[in-house]
Amino acid sequence: MRAVTADFVNTSESPRISEMDQPQTSDDEVLVRIAYGGMNAADWQYSQGWIKTIATDNVNILGFEAAGVVASVGRNVANFREGDRVMFARTRTTGESGTYAEYVAVPAELACRVPDGMSLTDAAATPICFLTSYIALFADDLGNAKPGQKVLVHGGSGGVGSFAIQLAKFGGLSVAATGRTANRNYMIEMGADLAFDYTDPAKGIVAQTREWAPEGVDVVFDAVRQNTLPDALEALKPGGTLVSITTMLDQTNLSEQILASEARGFRHVVCFAHWPDRLPKVPIVPILERRGIRIPPVEVVELADLQSAIARMKGGHNRGKLVLKFAGEQA
Ligand SMILES: NC(=O)c1ccc[n+]([C@@H]2O[C@H](COP(=O)([O-])OP(=O)(O)OC[C@H]3O[C@@H](n4cnc5c(N)ncnc54)[C@H](OP(=O)(O)O)[C@@H]3O)[C@@H](O)[C@H]2O)c1
Repeated sequence: MRAVTADFVNTSESPRISEMDQPQTSDDEVLVRIAYGGMNAADWQYSQGWIKTIATDNVNILGFEAAGVVASVGRNVANFREGDRVMFARTRTTGESGTYAEYVAVPAELACRVPDGMSLTDAAATPICFLTSYIALFADDLGNAKPGQKVLVHGGSGGVGSFAIQLAKFGGLSVAATGRTANRNYMIEMGADLAFDYTDPAKGIVAQTREWAPEGVDVVFDAVRQNTLPDALEALKPGGTLVSITTMLDQTNLSEQILASEARGFRHVVCFAHWPDRLPKVPIVPILERRGIRIPPVEVVELADLQSAIARMKGGHNRGKLVLKFAGEQA
């Protein structure tokens, strides 16, 4: 089968398309014929060997999420049948293979049914950003956001930010979001009560947030990187929570920042969201089935255009999601 593999070198030829054997499935797994793999910034970071928590041995297939059709089920699997449409995210931290391949073996407990009426392109674009933003906002030990509270989503026009705005509204919060002016209307369409340009030199992010929430917001979610909002604490209410998203691009000392935030009486937590033990607690299918959630614009990338798509991801200003085509709708 064809798969996209990492070379772990910093050249334009990494990653590349390789031929490899189809995976074997265990009794608790389903074999999925992949329609599309959802693209994420972490893909190219992994391809260059930056993600040290993922083994760089013989399971060097890229990709953290995908959607497709069940091709076969292991003998202990009761909740899926051949032909079912499924989507899934993978943490990759326990040595399991990535999702950019024609076939992927997935533990059945980590696969979700694709809701009726949802396309496989949208399904491939959903799991990582949905799970990351839901867990960052609502897990008790992370954002712990409650109805009636106010949240600032920094990076509201990206994949994670688009879901974060909508899930925060779904959870009964008021939402302010940042993005460039070109993305302002988009963030309002996603449901933000206030959207403003983080690059505006005349009005700082904190001042604009405080105009909207004079006492400060309950939660700031930095959905761009670990520390792209250095004065985030100034936007918070006393005792409020700063959720920082972790990426491989960050060089700042997060432990020191957390200690400094806590010394000032704030909660400061780090979101590394797609841990398997958290996944079963996220009601992803019921929320999607209520149809209140809009999937960000999805663009299909042919395998032949892999390198240019990776270059776009590296730019860091993509609106919505890219998905890499394998079997496509024929899966
Ligand atoms: N740790 C985890 O569990 C986890 C999971 C998923 C993603 N992530 C990380 O989370 C980040 C966001 O992921 P994504 O999929 O949403 O990426 P994305 O789709 O590329 O979106 C990034 C967004 O950030 C905005 N942005 C870029 N620089 C900014 C800045 N300085 N200030 C404010 N906004 C800025 C851009 O908006 P404009 O174009 O409007 O500037 C862009 O829309 C990535 O770094 C990714 O690696 C981590």
